[in-house]
Amino acid sequence: MNYLTKRLSTAALALLVALPAAAAEYTMRLSHGDNENNPTHKGALKFEELVEKYSDGRIDVQIFPSNQLGSEQEVAQALRMGSIESEILYTGNLVPLAPSVGVMMLPYAFTSNEEAHAAMDALKGPLNERLPKEAGVRVLGYFEKGFRVLTNGEREVKTLEDLKGLKIRVSKNNIAIETFKSWGLDPIPMAWAEVFPALQQGVIDGQENPYTTAISSKFYEVQKYITEVHYLIWSGPIIVSDRFYQGLPEDLQAALDKAGEEAASYEREVSAKETAAAKEKLVELGMTLTGAPEDEEKWQEAAKALWPSFAADIGGEEWVNEATQIMNEAIG
Ligand code: MLT
Repeated sequence: MNYLTKRLSTAALALLVALPAAAAEYTMRLSHGDNENNPTHKGALKFEELVEKYSDGRIDVQIFPSNQLGSEQEVAQALRMGSIESEILYTGNLVPLAPSVGVMMLPYAFTSNEEAHAAMDALKGPLNERLPKEAGVRVLGYFEKGFRVLTNGEREVKTLEDLKGLKIRVSKNNIAIETFKSWGLDPIPMAWAEVFPALQQGVIDGQENPYTTAISSKFYEVQKYITEVHYLIWSGPIIVSDRFYQGLPEDLQAALDKAGEEAASYEREVSAKETAAAKEKLVELGMTLTGAPEDEEKWQEAAKALWPSFAADIGGEEWVNEATQIMNEAIG
């Protein structure tokens, strides 16, 4: 190799090293409201990996945890406008914008995680017929974190009587508010990001969320008691802006759907393992785990009596009948 050739090939090599990796064709910001220790974030990382794999790097997913892009409800609004591409959020925070997802919120509809999985998976198609029109979003897959459990810092709650007078935060939707009212409380609707400081400052006495959230959000620092109210399973769809989705070629739409379903299966497994570990850890950290209320049937009776009155909040009677039939058939 003469001197000139050698200089040229060295220059070409330097240029290659300096070039960035081929840029993705699409950027997909993914917002969620939990911190990096929560199963939601672990599922989000899996989703990122799978989307990038199935799209051959043509879609670049960028995850924003801990409400960095706004509250769950604000980001859902942004998805409708197409100004943010995707989000994973608690169904209870989506329902004011997309009422049809509220069928997953009917109190005491499920007795196990497996029943909720069957229902969520069966509802994905029918929901995707409705949500683009209702809220400008589509569901790619459903995360699940087990039952929401009631925590408080005041006293052990074994009965409805013990609950009386506690200031409990609920998510901002009518179903949660009315359910807690049926138990004799005046619940406090509040955005998720405000919950920890409100517990710390005594603005509220308690809240309800899965066991894994009690660990990831360090509720054990400000709460003492946990009651397993089996009224609602934490379900959370991965949603994508319909504008963004419709702007993708078909092969990339399929890549998103496949990645969403697989990431959901992964997250559900992580969540089941972490829930078992969280229960042990919370006891070690000094919390009292009470289990189910002694008078659980009274809680159930009061909340289930509300089902007919929820129809207007969750997509209307016709949809509720259709969806409950789909869910019942899926559960078997
Ligand atoms: C809530 O209570 O608002 C949610 O369950 C928080 C979350 O998305 O984990």
